[in-house]
Amino acid sequence: MGKLDGKVAIVTGSGRGLGKAFALAMIREGCSLVVNSVNPERRSADQTADEIRKAGGKAVSVIAEVGSKETAEKLVDTAVKEFGTLNILVNNAGYGRDAMLHQMTEEQWDYIIFTHLRGTFMNSQAAVKHMIDNKIRGRIINITSGVGIHGNVGQSNYAAAKGGIIAMTKTHSKELVRYGICINAIAPLAKTEMFDNVREDLRDFMFQMMAKRNVLQKVGEPNDVAPVIVFLASDDAHFVTGQVICATGDVGELPWD
Ligand SMILES: NC(=O)c1ccc[n+]([C@@H]2O[C@H](COP(=O)([O-])OP(=O)(O)OC[C@H]3O[C@@H](n4cnc5c(N)ncnc54)[C@H](O)[C@@H]3O)[C@@H](O)[C@H]2O)c1
Repeated sequence: MGKLDGKVAIVTGSGRGLGKAFALAMIREGCSLVVNSVNPERRSADQTADEIRKAGGKAVSVIAEVGSKETAEKLVDTAVKEFGTLNILVNNAGYGRDAMLHQMTEEQWDYIIFTHLRGTFMNSQAAVKHMIDNKIRGRIINITSGVGIHGNVGQSNYAAAKGGIIAMTKTHSKELVRYGICINAIAPLAKTEMFDNVREDLRDFMFQMMAKRNVLQKVGEPNDVAPVIVFLASDDAHFVTGQVICATGDVGELPWD
């Protein structure tokens, strides 16, 4: 028996990286999935859904940018139309757009706030409306970052969005616990294509430093984080809400430097 048997979930940003690992781990536990990514993409949610279906799982993909009310409603409507309900939402989608404060463009600021912060709000709002109306004791898992806790050079947009996601997680948890809906956040750290925009030699150095300062002497992989998602999405997590869980190993106070 799987930990998520009979459950229906949306995982945004699941064409690759963490989102894809989350989707595959949830499928292994018996969940049906709406996967999502943007196009054009080297690896898109269409491919994740194909892979899942070929392995005998149930998945459909929605190619759309998160942030708008339209996308949020489309994700929820697809879950309900294809699988009959929605129990779990994982707000994971988003890239970085780094720049120093004095060099950051309005586009860089707006893009990150729109995708990460507004996207998490809009998707959560659409999901909880369905959960409350249908008396579903649902789960929302928001993906934040150590950067939202500690800050980081060149990431004022990302830090603001990820810090805002932590504040929303705690607020939404307090609002929705009375409906049996648990809302938590995970701050992950894992080698993914998110780091592809860092120059290769710098990236290698960064990973070495990150491994060195980690008590576990390694930088995680997406599959090191995925079991935490499965737990928070499951009925076992009924007494855990409003929390931020760092699935990073022990990296000390500052995530990057
Ligand atoms: N990798 C890490 O160490 C790390 C650390 C902290 C937080 N995070 C967060 O984890 C999440 C996943 O990161 P990742 O490392 O897997 O990155 P990634 O770049 O490998 O994957 C990002 C995924 O999000 C999708 N995406 C991007 N913008 C989107 C949008 N507007 N609408 C819908 N989908 C969109 C992409 O299509 C892709 O599938 C992000 O929210 C990221 O900020 C990652």
